[in-house]
Amino acid sequence: MTAPLLEALALSKTFTARRRGRAASAVAVDRVDLAIAAGECVGLVGESGCGKSTVARLLLRLIEPDGGDILLEGRSIRTLAGAELRAMRRHVQIVFQNPHSALHPRMSVGAAIAEPLLIQGLAGSTEARQRALAMLDVVGLPRSFAYRYPHELSGGQKQRICIARALILRPQLIVLDEPTSALDVSVQAQILEFLGQMQREFGLSYLLISHNLAVVRAMSRRIMVMYRGQIVEQGTTEALLSVPRHPYTRALLAASLEPEPGVSLPPAEVDLPVGEGTSVPACRFFARCERRVAGLCDREVPPIAGAAESWAWCHRPHGGAT
Ligand SMILES: Nc1ncnc2c1ncn2[C@@H]1O[C@H](COP(=O)(O)OP(=O)(O)OP(=O)(O)O)[C@@H](O)[C@H]1O
Ligand SMILES: [Mg+2]
Repeated sequence: MTAPLLEALALSKTFTARRRGRAASAVAVDRVDLAIAAGECVGLVGESGCGKSTVARLLLRLIEPDGGDILLEGRSIRTLAGAELRAMRRHVQIVFQNPHSALHPRMSVGAAIAEPLLIQGLAGSTEARQRALAMLDVVGLPRSFAYRYPHELSGGQKQRICIARALILRPQLIVLDEPTSALDVSVQAQILEFLGQMQREFGLSYLLISHNLAVVRAMSRRIMVMYRGQIVEQGTTEALLSVPRHPYTRALLAASLEPEPGVSLPPAEVDLPVGEGTSVPACRFFARCERRVAGLCDREVPPIAGAAESWAWCHRPHGGAT
């Protein structure tokens, strides 16, 4: 079996912040495993604050994990530094949620698209400019846009420029962190369609992050569901959406089908305290779960119910334990 393109093994991150003079720790990502094959789109969903962007930033080494490992084509990138880390970033790019803040306001569009090539030392300025113009063709914007500045662009156009900046390095994988949630509803579908087209054209892999299951379902072959720092269910898109097994996946699915996604879900306690004097139920969804069994779900770590590719981390999954 060939190694996945990108793999995370027991990836963990705890943030420590000072609140009212006392240090408080919060587990943002807790032993997350994931694997993305070449050419595959994997969806990562979960409500606000569950740790999705932290996973994204860890995978790119924009922040350092406290534990676990990240492998690119089977090779650990956990300790890469300097030129090696830069070379890794050529293969793994990220597109952020908010295109309005991702672009430098005083840098022309042409310069912004060319910049990654110059930073990576992959082209001189003349060639970089030429390739930036060609990239405007690829993302469906007129070449005259090269002379424009971000404030002269719509949100959808800005996001196309951010995607062009990622694509110009010919990466193998792009992490898309809520790539459409800052855009008007009418533009969201266009950008998703465009991302799908780019994936087919360049044979890219995506990790597509969203709080909304409806956004990831059209593009992802597999979906992972995250709740308070942990992956609680994963499966092929078809299996997971036709028979969601974890009670949280069901709640998320119901919420994403509503006119105002997310409103029916009871609020999560965002921070998960760790350390002395705090108690975290064995299943973190315990307090909100309709199927909970006191004495079991809060005390005993749930088993993995299901097979290698499709499973839920639950004592009482829908559809039974197998
Ligand atoms: N730099 C930081 N310092 C302290 N806490 C942080 C930091 N970054 C994130 N967190 C906390 O980690 C948790 C996960 O945050 P993260 O941004 O990964 O969530 P998310 O799933 O991307 O949410 P959203 O859907 O709102 O983007 C949150 O509780 C957040 O407050
Ligand atoms: Mg986020």
